[in-house]
Amino acid sequence: RAGGALQGVKAVVTAGPTREPIDPVRFITNRSSGKMGYALAAALRALGAEVVLVSGPTALATPAGVARIDVETAAQMLDATQRAAADAQMLVGTAAVADYRVEAVAEHKIKKRDDAVQLTLVKNPDILAELRAAQPQLFIVGFAAETEKLADHAREKLARKKLDLIAANWVGDGQAFDRDDNALQVFWPGGERALAQAPKTELARELAALIAERYQSRTAQ
Ligand code: C5P
Repeated sequence: RAGGALQGVKAVVTAGPTREPIDPVRFITNRSSGKMGYALAAALRALGAEVVLVSGPTALATPAGVARIDVETAAQMLDATQRAAADAQMLVGTAAVADYRVEAVAEHKIKKRDDAVQLTLVKNPDILAELRAAQPQLFIVGFAAETEKLADHAREKLARKKLDLIAANWVGDGQAFDRDDNALQVFWPGGERALAQAPKTELARELAALIAERYQSRTAQ
């Protein structure tokens, strides 16, 4: 792998959904297969990066040469990502992290006694935002899944989360989720590029090349 564009770079990739328990047998989750994150981990590895994949529950095999840490909740994902990224240069957040968790997880299975039950949800930490605050030098790539105003929302997220690059895709209407192909609109401060509809493995190679290009151009400054 000598000479890969990301030789000597440690990259942490978050992938898949998180699972937030309600009681011992139930949980809240997001729709995410993890396919894009796993494909991207493999593509970054192919460019020579040392890759750590912090993964929520998925049905996918670990890409060759990639170290994988399995987690369930957003809190666990944050903790594992902080540890793995402490000596990393790059963080790529493809995970569909649950925005909220149940405030008080029931110790025993909730009985279906009442006609309605109320769950209080509290906000989960934003993993990318926490890592940005702790490691200003980290090159951070985020994802944005949008159902409207894709470019506006992606650019707003890029700025608010102080990301170095964001890859946005349309969701809903059978697009993206659990499919093997996808299309991406990529934004960075001062530029953008469209990556046309393609299998996620091919799209991941194109995105990894673009990430390497932007990483090098920032490092060169
Ligand atoms: O704000 P939004 O959730 O749409 O941002 C999506 C991006 O932020 C993705 O890269 C996702 O992995 C990341 N994220 C995160 N922690 C959260 C929520 C989202 O790292 N709690």
